[in-house]
Amino acid sequence: MLKVGALALILLLAAGCQRPIGSVDKPVLGADLEAGREAIVTYGCGSCHVIPGVQEANAYVGPPLNKFEQRHYIAGNLPNNADNLVYWIQFPQSVEPGTAMPNLNVTETDARNIAAYLYSQ
Ligand code: HEC
Repeated sequence: MLKVGALALILLLAAGCQRPIGSVDKPVLGADLEAGREAIVTYGCGSCHVIPGVQEANAYVGPPLNKFEQRHYIAGNLPNNADNLVYWIQFPQSVEPGTAMPNLNVTETDARNIAAYLYSQ
């Protein structure tokens, strides 16, 4: 019984260590890259951004979103980590009131998938 408890604790700790939020060099856990790519098309991010692997995304209203994992800041404002990227995608107007990027009512799940996709490019 004790062994089972210890094993459960170890598994729990291991799962905790894999939690990627807060670190740029790890993927967003549980995210679906293909769903992220599709969400980018659905929300029309490509009407303002160039995004690798998304043919429809070829505009320069906002900055190109290539090599996003290597950026230090999001919109020159938030430290670049998964939590902040998900937040920015959902609420750019809360981060920078008046920015040209609109709040697009992106769901948390879609924002996580999109963030994971951007970090993968
Ligand atoms: C109407 C145009 C527009 C749309 C649509 C738009 N964005 Fe943006 N986006 C911008 C602009 C402009 C900026 C620069 C904001 C700033 O720096 O203040 C930006 C910034 C960003 C950044 C930070 C870029 C950097 O270099 O730090 C990310 C990430 C981003 N957008 C993702 C998205 C995603 C994902 C979507 C779709 C859900 C989207 N954007 C839709 C205009 C847009």
